[in-house]
Order: sequence, then C-alpha cells, then structure tokens
Amino acid sequence: MLNTTLTRLLGIEHPIIQAGMAAEAGPDLAVAVSDAGGLGTLGTIASTPDRVEAAIARTRDLTGRPFSVNLVTFETAPFRDELIDLALRMNVPNVTLSFGDFGPALARFKAAGATVLVQVQDAAQARAALAGGADVVMAQGAEAGGHTGQRGTLSFAAQVIEMADGVPVVVAGGVGNGRGLAAALAMGAAGVVMGTRFKLSHEYAGRADQKAAIAASDGSDTLADLANDAVLPFTWPANVRGRVIRTPFASLWEGRTDELRAKAATYAQPYGILLDATLDPPVNLNWAGESAALMSEELPAGEIVQRTVAEAETLLRSLNSVLH
Ligand SMILES: Cc1cc2nc3c(=O)[nH]c(=O)nc-3n(C[C@H](O)[C@H](O)[C@H](O)COP(=O)(O)O)c2cc1C
Repeated sequence: MLNTTLTRLLGIEHPIIQAGMAAEAGPDLAVAVSDAGGLGTLGTIASTPDRVEAAIARTRDLTGRPFSVNLVTFETAPFRDELIDLALRMNVPNVTLSFGDFGPALARFKAAGATVLVQVQDAAQARAALAGGADVVMAQGAEAGGHTGQRGTLSFAAQVIEMADGVPVVVAGGVGNGRGLAAALAMGAAGVVMGTRFKLSHEYAGRADQKAAIAASDGSDTLADLANDAVLPFTWPANVRGRVIRTPFASLWEGRTDELRAKAATYAQPYGILLDATLDPPVNLNWAGESAALMSEELPAGEIVQRTVAEAETLLRSLNSVLH
C-alpha cells in the first residue's frame, strides 16, 4: 500500500489521479480508475453543461468512490462559468482547476467546502494556488500531453514541493508507469497525474488510430506548438501550448499558427475545419505527451492503476539497497 497525504485527503487507495482529458474522459474511464482505487476525473472541454450534468450523475450512479471533475478556467473556455455553476450546484466533492486564472473559481469552491486540486504550469501559479487555499497542487511539466507549460517536470515539481509546506503536491507530465510514481514519491510528492497512459486505455473514448500512434511512439515524436490550437474557436492562455504526437497535419502546420488560424476562420461553422473531409491531410491532433515512450499496449484502466502501483512498490522497496 502506498499511503500518502493525497490518499488520506481524498479517501482513495492509490496515489494516482487520472487526468481530465476533455469529453473523451467520460464516466466509463473515471469509474474504472476510481473503482481500482485511484481518483477518476471527468473531462469537460468540448462538452456542454447538459452533457456534463448527465456525466456527473452517471458517474455517481456507477461508483460510490471519490472522483473529480476537471474545469478549465481561462477566459475564453466555452461554458466556463456555466460549468463552474453546475459543479457547485451539484455539490461535486472534488474539482480539478486548470489553465488561466483559477483564482475566482478556487475561492468559490473552497467557500462551498469542496476539495480543490489546482494544476499549475509555473512558480507564480503555484504560489497563487497555495495562497488561495488549494488542497492539492498539481505541478505540470512541459513533457505532459495536451496543454502544458514550459518548465521541465523534474525541477518544477521539486520546486513546488519545496514551496508547498506540506500541502500535497502531485506530479503531472511524463509519468507513464511505476517508475514515474516511485520517483515522484521519492522526491516528496504525494502522488501522480497520468493522462497519456489513460488515453491508451479501453475506457478512453478516443480514435483507434490515435491510440495506435501512442502505442508505437518512442517519445521523440511529440510536438508542442501553438499551431496545434489554431483550429479551435477559442484562445488558450499565453503560457501554455498543446503537445501532440506528430501527425502529417501537425507537421504541415508547425510554426504556421496565424496562417492556420486564418484558414480555420474561413469555415462558417466554428469547428468546420475539423470536419472537412477534403482537407489534405485532415486535422488530426493526437494530444499526447512524452510518456508515450513508456507504453505499447492498450489496457483496461483498472489494470493500469494496479500495474503502476505494483511496479512503484517494488522499486521503492529496492531503494533501501542504495542507503548505506
Ligand atoms: C489527451 C489529453 C487531453 C487532455 N485534456 C486536458 C483537459 O481537458 N484538462 C486539463 O486540465 N488537462 C488536460 N490534459 C493534461 C493533463 O491534465 C495532464 O497534465 C497530462 O496528461 C500529464 O502528462 P502525461 O500526459 O504525460 O500523463 C490532457 C492531456 C491529454 C494527454
């Protein structure tokens, strides 16, 4: 058993948090992770308040275990305020805030008695999360999949642990197996967040070709580029960019953000470019991080939790041999 300040705070068995990953991280994934003893998380980007409400209700029906809801807090995030209101109205016990100014939402959820996890990408954000009373700080390093900042995970996580004064810190970015979990715990973190690893799970509702590319990746073919966001009808905060597996689409548009944004704007529908079957190559943004190097098999999410914990336990026991 890996007993940490995180497991005790959240009432979970294992110090593993499944990242909220847009609408593809739905109830099936969150329930599988929570039932296996980790913290499952519902994603909300690209969803609507009605669908998120149904997903929260379904998750509550399917598991009695703790789970979280991921809410993105940057200004242009679609339905940002409606989703915050919804989570408050539904008394969601755990929320994960990320990206942009999380301060006002953090204050509201704290006042409502929720447990608030805040994902941060730089030291100023970490200080703000701690000052605002975050219950858990998620230190996200640049090798993470999806949207991420520009600090390397190792030094950034160590820095946040040192400033946190006992508040649980979890490591996000680059953790794909028990080695990452063991390393995080050894440096004083209370657990880890895994996104890419859970994207390659049976319960993640994503495209088979994208999962196959993650399984085949050796970790050197990911690309963090502002152009990856140019097809979306909203603007991400300036301190983050999206990391994807390099696809023909990502390679073609690398560094050509303004040009791609202008092209996307020629479509009448907000997401029109994503649906354009005549585009060559078609849009294919396979959000994933460098931890793709550490996985070659799609697995049930519960098995990912179990394998990661077992591997970390073995490694942590073997650490005694380096102490003399
Ligand atoms: C496919 C994918 C989608 C993501 N979507 C979100 C999201 O909706 N909200 C969020 O806060 N983070 C999102 N992230 C980032 C994760 O929260 C997390 O920081 C990251 O996955 C950790 O790095 P890893 O991918 O190496 O495990 C996403 C990551 C991936 C891989």
